[in-house]
Amino acid sequence: AILGQSNIIGKDIIFFDTIESTNTYAMKLADTGCPEGTVIIADAQTGGKGRLGRKWLSPHGKNLYMSVVLKPAIPPKDASLLTLMSAVACASAIKQVSSLHVSIKWPNDIMTCNKKLGGILTEIKADMDRIFHAVIGIGININLDINDIPDEIRTTATSIKIEQDIAAFSRSIVTAEIIKELDRWYSIFLQNRRKAIIKEWLKLSSTIGRVVKVTVGANTFTGIAETIDEEGMLILRLSDNTTKKISAGDVTILR
Ligand code: BTN
Repeated sequence: AILGQSNIIGKDIIFFDTIESTNTYAMKLADTGCPEGTVIIADAQTGGKGRLGRKWLSPHGKNLYMSVVLKPAIPPKDASLLTLMSAVACASAIKQVSSLHVSIKWPNDIMTCNKKLGGILTEIKADMDRIFHAVIGIGININLDINDIPDEIRTTATSIKIEQDIAAFSRSIVTAEIIKELDRWYSIFLQNRRKAIIKEWLKLSSTIGRVVKVTVGANTFTGIAETIDEEGMLILRLSDNTTKKISAGDVTILR
């Protein structure tokens, strides 16, 4: 066992060598009724999924590809808070086990030195009123080498190994710490201490207070990232001094 103790998350951990996507598997597993907190980990993904329909680079044995099944009794509009909570847990965990400066770029990119170290993809099954289950998918680049990174994302993606300039970094240490932090933050979530989650997210954020460009589909908005609201929406202050709420998009930090 890689864990000392756990309340909910990580009591059951299922390992795969190669799988299409831990998220896809976890969504199917949740449909058949697995316990809350079940964790799926794979050494490689053949169809790793990123946000906004993108692919997630998932070579064998190098990184962490993990999904967690949660069953919170919340309406679907609150799902983004789960993602914020998971970003806080991941950023805190990596900070604790590495010597990197880690921050969160809205909504849920795990960053170091302006480059992306990891990301979170939350999927839910819900009706209008409530979530049946949610899957938190976590991808952290741990031992990815420069040569593994395609040219298109070479200036924007990185790994713990690249940034710390070491031979290899322990995947199990990162995994165990993330599970521990997720368990801790999920219990804060279940106690309905939303303000504590938002507060920690704001503390870890590298987005708030910066001039940013946000791409939402075919539209772009430029302004100051003022804060996030209690649903995790980004509040952007535009040049005409009005504000705009953004629920999903890509942020580029301009200055
Ligand atoms: C992002 O675009 O930033 C989110 C990336 C999420 C990747 C992880 S890897 C484990 C899990 N399974 C997937 O197919 N995606 C997530």
